[in-house]
Amino acid sequence: MSHGGLFYSAFIPNCFDEVWRGSTGLKVLRTEITNRHRGLLYFIYFGRMIVMIDINDSEFLSRIEPKELLDKVCDGKTAAAMIQPGDILGISGFTPCGYPKITMHELAERMKQTPFQVDVWTGASTGSQIDTELVAVNGIRNRMPYQTNANLRKAINAGQINYFDLHLSHVAQQIREGFFTNVKGEHVTGPDFAVIEACKIVNRDGEIGIVPTTAIGNSPVFVSQGKKVIIEVNTTQPVALDGMADIYEVANPPHRVPIPIVKAGDRIGKTYIPVDPAKIVAIVPCDLPDVTRALAPLDDDAEKMGNNLVDFLKNEVKHGRLPENLLPLQSGVGNVANAVINGLVHSDFKNLSVYTEVIQDGMFDLIDEGKIDMISGTSLSPSPDGLKRFHANIEKYSKKIILRPQEISNNGEVARRIGVVAMNTALEMDIYGHVNSTHVTGTKLMNGIGGSGDFARNGALSCFFCHSVAKGGAISAVVPMCSHVDH
Ligand code: COA
Repeated sequence: MSHGGLFYSAFIPNCFDEVWRGSTGLKVLRTEITNRHRGLLYFIYFGRMIVMIDINDSEFLSRIEPKELLDKVCDGKTAAAMIQPGDILGISGFTPCGYPKITMHELAERMKQTPFQVDVWTGASTGSQIDTELVAVNGIRNRMPYQTNANLRKAINAGQINYFDLHLSHVAQQIREGFFTNVKGEHVTGPDFAVIEACKIVNRDGEIGIVPTTAIGNSPVFVSQGKKVIIEVNTTQPVALDGMADIYEVANPPHRVPIPIVKAGDRIGKTYIPVDPAKIVAIVPCDLPDVTRALAPLDDDAEKMGNNLVDFLKNEVKHGRLPENLLPLQSGVGNVANAVINGLVHSDFKNLSVYTEVIQDGMFDLIDEGKIDMISGTSLSPSPDGLKRFHANIEKYSKKIILRPQEISNNGEVARRIGVVAMNTALEMDIYGHVNSTHVTGTKLMNGIGGSGDFARNGALSCFFCHSVAKGGAISAVVPMCSHVDH
């Protein structure tokens, strides 16, 4: 029986060595019973069904266009074995989307046997193989620039992991400028390894390129500045993603020129991340999907926040302070942000555009309602249902969405030029207009500043949303003076 180019086999208990239980309840099992090529076969166990992933699988191999790279194909365990204690890893992914899965899981497995640590640089939060598994084996020394994971947060607040909480648009420039040090205390201008999830590897316009999947994040700078590159080709990511990316890397001052974006929908770059083939050390097959987060159903509070926003924006239009189709919208991540977008879905506004960071389910509603011209972001992070909806309508949605590096999606120069309406969520706010986005009671890190500062400081109009009370009413989120001031 075949399924998407994979092969099913019967379950043979003695032949398997269970190596991972993912957050979906999926188990990945590895066996060496058939060494058909140079590597291993992978078996994924769905309940009682075994799916065998072959590194000779035609679907996987067809996604590697430059055939001269085929000798780099190996399994995740082999790729993970290349990583040395103290190495800095620049990992693709932004929210639980577009992150490398098999290699990072195998790295955590290796650390279980032989404990050691690496530094992990990402786009933002990532998936469980990184933010849960590597944390569980105490495998992370330094982590940047944003996270949302409870275990990782606990380790950061306990001082077990050094955390650099950075404005997301700043990361690439700071890497290129050598702000960060390695385990020896030497300043470096890139990671030891870029570990990047790919939809395809292409030979396009005379260059070898990685077609990214559902998140761009910091992948371009990790690839251009990294010493070595591991590519995980994920066959669950539709090839129709090809064309959504718009990859453009800026030079550091004094060589920087204006970023030529004047509208949210302007394309300025390439559909792939250029990569020097000499740096590619491993190409790993992966058949694990993004495990995205479910959104809470809209409650009365969320609906009211959305309605308040629409009333406020209508008033701005009425007084001539905003055009009828508003300015490009930026919306934060999470339930509240999604609910706020829902308010716009049910409004009379049309011909809207979006210049944001994370694209959630509400954006598909805006497309379906015919209200949107173009959406620019760095990560496609819908709920599990939203992801199915995206896959079912990929031809329609992909034409309306551009995915950019976070240095561009969150760029202050661009946000100020096009004049975004920045809409983010706060932990607390005070009567002086300060906003705390990051530290509960001023001391405990929640997630990080993320892109909130990139947009709030540079937007033509900046709004923050939050429930007026937290923890079932025990804590007021509106206070005389914020315990920590981000904005
Ligand atoms: N004091 C103590 N805890 C508070 C609190 C307060 N004033 N306000 C909220 N919380 C707690 C909530 O109880 C909840 O805790 P739980 O996870 O244990 O249930 C948690 O903080 C998250 O709050 P919630 O109301 O669910 O909001 P959220 O999921 O939308 O997250 C931020 C709010 C501020 C943490 C989140 O938006 C964030 O990380 N922002 C910074 C980055 C950013 O804005 N990125 C977007 C740019 S594009």
